[in-house]
Formats: sequence, structure tokens, C-alpha cells
Amino acid sequence: MIMNNVFSMPIDNQASSKSGTAQRIPIRHMDFKFDGKDLDPVFFQNTTFASAYFHALSIFLTFGEDLVIDTARHHRQFVKDEALKARVTALIGQEAIHSKLHHEFNDTLAENDYPVKFYRFLAEQVFKYGFKQLPNGMQLSLMAGIEHFTAVLAEYMMKHEEIFFLSQDEKQRALWMWHMLEECEHKDIAYDVYQQLSGDYLMRISGFGLAFVTILMLVPLGGALIPFLRKPSSVFKLSFWKDARKSMDMLFTGKDSVFGGSMKHILDYLRRDFHPSDHDTSDLMAYYKEKLLNPANGLLSPFMTREFYPGAKAA
Ligand SMILES: [Fe+2]
Ligand SMILES: [Fe+2]
Repeated sequence: MIMNNVFSMPIDNQASSKSGTAQRIPIRHMDFKFDGKDLDPVFFQNTTFASAYFHALSIFLTFGEDLVIDTARHHRQFVKDEALKARVTALIGQEAIHSKLHHEFNDTLAENDYPVKFYRFLAEQVFKYGFKQLPNGMQLSLMAGIEHFTAVLAEYMMKHEEIFFLSQDEKQRALWMWHMLEECEHKDIAYDVYQQLSGDYLMRISGFGLAFVTILMLVPLGGALIPFLRKPSSVFKLSFWKDARKSMDMLFTGKDSVFGGSMKHILDYLRRDFHPSDHDTSDLMAYYKEKLLNPANGLLSPFMTREFYPGAKAA
């Protein structure tokens, strides 16, 4: 049962029933002890521009995560289903720790002449005077849209594990692998909340559109400017432009590129009966949980300080 505008008129929805088998989700605390000296600026497949996209994403994502946290907190009180309510609490907890750890990582970017202060200022204006001024229902839709993109990115990255191991920067690797695992783990929560409290199709697509423009246009623009802002003289080198083209291919235009290769998945959100769990990632999740969380030799073991399952009233 869902409401067709926020908090009124219940209607049936097939998608909300798909969440019935959803599992409980833990909150994991990490301590990466980042050090600016260890930063690999070409972490993503030895490319300057594509890596800069992820660095720009790391900066802007903290604002998206804060929006997810605030929106989820506000709407949790209206969720009647106690199991979903507990999952919303887990979503809030996971995103709060993502935001905190990415802030710490972004501080190491600042130590390496990345325009972190400037980008934080820009993002703050966009969120404070733009997204945060939207009606509650639209913010809820934007939250679900952002979570769709992070789920798409997570699935792509988890299917291309080798990308994480091309660099020796093990903390950056752990940060992204942990984050991608959890984005995949909580990928249907925001959507289920949206469907239960609103379910309005056109508003869902509008939120998707805003997330699309932000993640596929504004963040790439921010990323593309980073190499120039860090070292303006590099525009006179042929290698600079070769890297730009290669990075473009890896992210957007290549057949198996991060977003180009995921476009079908991205646009699947436009389907009226779409649900995040239509894209089954259970095998991938099982593989990564073992690889990352095994207490004996998991990749995250040196960094994880606490893991717990929140109750409905926590966080
Ligand atoms: Fe996140
Ligand atoms: Fe998320």
C-alpha cells in the first residue's frame, strides 16, 4: 500500500511488495587514517581526468549524502512498516559514516591542491538554495534518484573489481569498495520509502532528472576542471588531452564505460514498475562481503572499528 501524494490517498503498488524479503542492514564504522602523502591522484585506471571525476564525486557526494540523511530522518516518522523503518535507520547510519569518511578523504585532496574549499562552497549553494528548498515530496524523490545512481555505480564497480587493484593506494581502494558495497546493500530503501509515502510517477522521474543532471553533468564538469586548476600549464601538453579523451571513453562514451555501459540500467528507472531489486546483485554482494569483511583477511578488516544492527528507534 502506498500514498499517491505524500501522506494521503493510499494506492496499491507492486514495487513496495518487492521489498518484503529485504534483509536487515548493519552500520559499520571505519577508520582509514588518511594521509595526504599517500594519495594516488591517478587512482582510477591511471588516468588523471577519470580519477578527477571520482575525486569531484567524493566532494559533491557528501552533500548528496547529507540530503539523503536529512530527508530520510524527516520521512522516517511517517513510515508505518516497522521493518522498513529500521532499514531507514540503517540507511541514515551508513550514509552518515560515508559522509564523515569522505570528508576526511576530501581533506587529503585539499592537502594535494584540489579545489576542495571552492567545490564545497559551490555545492553548498546548490544544495542550500536549490535542492533543500524543494517541497518534501520532491526531496524524497531526489533522494531515491541519487540512490539509484549510486546503486548503478556500485553494481558497475563491483562487476569490474580489477579497477580497484590498479593502484597501490589501499586506503582509497578500501574507501570506494566499502562505499560501493553499502550503496548496493541499501539500494532499495530510499525507493521503498518513496513508493510507500508517495509513489507519484512523474515526481519520481523529476527527482531522477535532477540526479541525472547533477551526477552526469555537474560532477563531470567539476572533475574536468580539476586537472587544469591543479596545474594550469599542463594544457600545453599532448598527454593532457590524450588523458582527457581516454577518460571520457572510460566514463561515458566507451561501450563498457562506467556510465555509458550502464545507461540501460540507469534508464530502467523510467519503467513504471521498476524496483531496485529487479537488478539482482545477491551473488555479487555475497562475494564482496566475504572479500571485504572476512575477519581473518577481509580487505576492510584493518579499518573496521565497529559493526552493529540498529533498532527502529536508533540513530
Ligand atoms: Fe553513500
Ligand atoms: Fe546511499
